Amino acid sequence: MPTYRNPDGNTPRRPVALITGASKGLGATLADFLAAQGYNLVIDARSAETLTATAERLRAYGGAVAALPGDVTDPAHRKALVEAARASGRLVLLVNNASALGPSPMPAMAAYPLDALARVLAVNVIAPVALTQAALPLLVERGGLVVNVSSAAALGGYPGWGRLRGEQGRARPHHADDGRRTPRRRRGRGERGP
Ligand SMILES: NC(=O)c1ccc[n+]([C@@H]2O[C@H](COP(=O)([O-])OP(=O)(O)OC[C@H]3O[C@@H](n4cnc5c(N)ncnc54)[C@H](OP(=O)(O)O)[C@@H]3O)[C@@H](O)[C@H]2O)c1
Repeated sequence: MPTYRNPDGNTPRRPVALITGASKGLGATLADFLAAQGYNLVIDARSAETLTATAERLRAYGGAVAALPGDVTDPAHRKALVEAARASGRLVLLVNNASALGPSPMPAMAAYPLDALARVLAVNVIAPVALTQAALPLLVERGGLVVNVSSAAALGGYPGWGRLRGEQGRARPHHADDGRRTPRRRRGRGERGP
């Protein structure tokens, strides 16, 4: 396992990653990957039971794992996530992975229930922006990175996936030190505009 050191001393410190929606799926896989590399983790999910089981597995790698059950749309929960990251060491990575797909089958935009749309936007757009804002001071301290997980549907678009394309087109990694964007993504087939 690599050894991490504070910039101002020799105390070995593990870097910290905050991953939303890490009880299963991609978030849990990423958590496994980072835990195996010596990261301390802060993870969340709404279901405490699944989250607790995942956290137990991750602790076997030897790092600290703060597992906070909650919903990313809840401001108090987001605050608790950032506080846990602060307490865990040096935050170098925020992964906004938790997402909502909305009603299934996905309704056409013309018939999309607006309360469901509001929920999708709250989870997929507002919460990641709010969590990034809250974590930014810690990330900037260490030149950390923000990764927003998106979907191929945000690139080229699929029939019936207009809502997803609209709200997930936001997602690109950002460096937290100076706000620069990573290079622009390539346009999807048939996509126009800047
Ligand atoms: N799977 C695909 O084919 C696919 C394709 C394109 C993009 N993606 C993107 O990849 C990412 C991960 O997808 P996945 O398939 O791995 O998802 P997944 O297996 O359904 O896991 C989602 C995780 O997020 C948590 N979560 C969901 N809503 C949450 C909320 N409001 N607050 C906190 N945690 C929440 C879930 O736990 P709880 O339910 O207990 O909260 C779970 O831990 C998503 O951003 C998704 O849009 C996936």
